[in-house]
Amino acid sequence: MSTTFVPPSRRVLTGCVRSATTAPSLHNSQPWLFRIAGPTVEVYADPARRLPVVDPAGRELFLSLGAAVFTLRVAVHQAGYRTLVELLPDGPESTLAARVTATQPAPVDPAIEALAEAIPHRHTNRGPFAQVPVRPEAFGRLRQAARAEDAVLRMTDPASRDAILEMARTADGWLRQRPGYEQELRRWSGGKVRHDGVPTWAAGPWDALQAVPIRDFAQFSPQPRPREPFEPHPTILVLATEDDTRLDWLRAGQALQRVLLTATWLGLATTPISQPVEVPAVRRLLAGSPPGTSAQMVLRAGYGRFAGRTPRRPLSEVMLHDR
Ligand SMILES: Cc1cc2nc3c(=O)[nH]c(=O)nc-3n(C[C@H](O)[C@H](O)[C@H](O)COP(=O)(O)O)c2cc1C
Repeated sequence: MSTTFVPPSRRVLTGCVRSATTAPSLHNSQPWLFRIAGPTVEVYADPARRLPVVDPAGRELFLSLGAAVFTLRVAVHQAGYRTLVELLPDGPESTLAARVTATQPAPVDPAIEALAEAIPHRHTNRGPFAQVPVRPEAFGRLRQAARAEDAVLRMTDPASRDAILEMARTADGWLRQRPGYEQELRRWSGGKVRHDGVPTWAAGPWDALQAVPIRDFAQFSPQPRPREPFEPHPTILVLATEDDTRLDWLRAGQALQRVLLTATWLGLATTPISQPVEVPAVRRLLAGSPPGTSAQMVLRAGYGRFAGRTPRRPLSEVMLHDR
């Protein structure tokens, strides 16, 4: 007996795109555009939303796109379909980052269902975390999540954690000296933020111990910022890939989102800390571990209070019309 494949409706795929737009992105730049074509959702880079000062090569733009692609995959799967994912199907220079096609209907895998449930709850948390280390079983799940997307997640020991935090502080200082850095940060943060960028409230309090080098999204805010002591010994993770091409950046973004959704599901709060991977000389220092890999992101993880969700652009701004 043969069964007829009923592709997901446009309404269902539009809902999946809406989920994809909740993905994290550098400074909440949301550098993505989507087109629905039959059972396929095409994900395009929006180069006008690249941040040329901190991300001249577009590496973090493609990480952000990868995070959206992973979220889309999970949403299509939750809608009851297997997916076929083609990364950079028109070659590495094309703005077409991925094509995600719903193939045959499939029962929902409970592990993916858990990630799907975490999608609306995941958010970046820039507040203090409890002084409790991440449980080894939880770290094991995060590591598996990265591995499932062809990436490696390393939890740092105290010596390398302290070295990375120091590198992040140094990198932050160097970034502040880059011409245009301040204007770029101003463009993407503060009180005027509506549908994109990081609103002042999401910057979190100031770390009274100055232990955690969180990017200062509130520096242009006229309001006084509360000070709170952060955990003195944060849990620091490094996400790395084997190579460092656009394809690897897309993979790293998928791994990042799989790790972040897994963390959300485990009740862990997370903060991406990308200053050390935005300064090539500092990034090279992170590259050696595991040997021969390219560091793509530094993450802080722990147990924290709910921080809140940042805005997203409406679908009308990110959907391309049919050809
Ligand atoms: C590639 C990338 C780099 C990021 N770098 C930082 C960072 O250095 N500091 C930070 O506080 N958040 C960072 N973030 C988190 C974004 O600012 C955040 O995802 C965005 O503002 C949307 O907010 P949400 O994650 O709460 O949905 C980064 C996210 C991505 C995907």
